[in-house]
Amino acid sequence: MYTPTPEDRFTFGLWTVGWQARDPFGDATRAALDPVESVHRLAELGAYGVTFHDDDLLAVESDRTKAIESFKKALAETGLKVPMATTNLFTHPVFKDGGFTSNDREVRRYAIRKVIRNIDLAAELGAKTYVCWGGREGSESGAAKDVQAAMARYKEGLDLLCEYVIDKGYDIRFALEPKPNEPRGDILLPTIGHALALINELEHPEMVGLNPEVGHEQMAGLNFAHGIAQALWHGKLFHLDLNGQHGTRYDQDLVFGHGDVKDAFFLVDLLENGGYDGPRHFDYKPLRTDDASDVWVSAAANMRTYLILRDKVAAFNADPEVQAAKAASLVPDLALPTLGAGESIDQLLADERDPEELAKRGFHFTHLNQLALEHLLGVR
Ligand code: GCO
Ligand code: MN
Ligand code: MN
Ligand code: MN
Repeated sequence: MYTPTPEDRFTFGLWTVGWQARDPFGDATRAALDPVESVHRLAELGAYGVTFHDDDLLAVESDRTKAIESFKKALAETGLKVPMATTNLFTHPVFKDGGFTSNDREVRRYAIRKVIRNIDLAAELGAKTYVCWGGREGSESGAAKDVQAAMARYKEGLDLLCEYVIDKGYDIRFALEPKPNEPRGDILLPTIGHALALINELEHPEMVGLNPEVGHEQMAGLNFAHGIAQALWHGKLFHLDLNGQHGTRYDQDLVFGHGDVKDAFFLVDLLENGGYDGPRHFDYKPLRTDDASDVWVSAAANMRTYLILRDKVAAFNADPEVQAAKAASLVPDLALPTLGAGESIDQLLADERDPEELAKRGFHFTHLNQLALEHLLGVR
């Protein structure tokens, strides 16, 4: 039980298990990991696929052609898929003021070339989603960045990438990943809402959606499940990054469920029952205190936690007491259109009700919340 299989469609970034645990205060605590080893280990653990930044492939082999060849060989040996790829536009010092929105035009042009080069590889490996996380698109000072110009350059960059994909005939869509801060003081497109709004201004909005990350919305004090639900409603949940976070602080990238577990419970309910059919992708960091063997314990923990929550969510939804409580809380009634079929606005205006009477109705949400908690805690 709770043993993952490829049908569960769990995927991991190579940079997650491969994180050497350098932080702003300390050096690496683990050795570089060969992507070939990661592919084999993840396959043994029951994952469906891996994702990567262009530079992740160069962790132990600096020759790009050789690195790609051994990565492909590992994929062929294990059957692991590559549903998503992305670009590192944040590690090299050239990106210290961002990629698409660097004040330096030559850097912007270099960033676009770097992305396009990896899109070719992504297409070759069969990736359907290309993630754009604007890690260093931002600033620390109001004087340093003309944000309206930055938005124009962000749009220009994304429009160029869409044009390239159309010209090449690739079956790829882009997914923007919002984050409020870190590594920059303030990052552009800080939340799901900001990113959705930018998409509407693009030349090919249908080709661009979102890759929201659990911890990033929580860093902004937001409810991740609400954000995901809205992204789904807009048809924009192209992909997502699962992990754990405790409230508004630095980006923790904990194992899924090792942060706000109640939010994780409702998130799994939404993903399983709300119309998302993409991979369940983990973007976490094994703790800096973990050693090389613990890395695989943490990778397995992400998948096991998801499967446990999936089970709990199914039991919650099947519980007749929960169904009755939802009905008593009028949860299903929200699906009813507010205006009746064939009803006019005049009829609505004439249908006077006493607000004092309406206000007497309690919604009984505490009982419903307690039932969810009891399912989560395993006592029901
Ligand atoms: C972070 C981000 C990254 C991105 C990755 C894919 O906070 O570091 O979440 O891990 O998800 O660069 O684009
Ligand atoms: Mn992170
Ligand atoms: Mn993160
Ligand atoms: Mn992420």
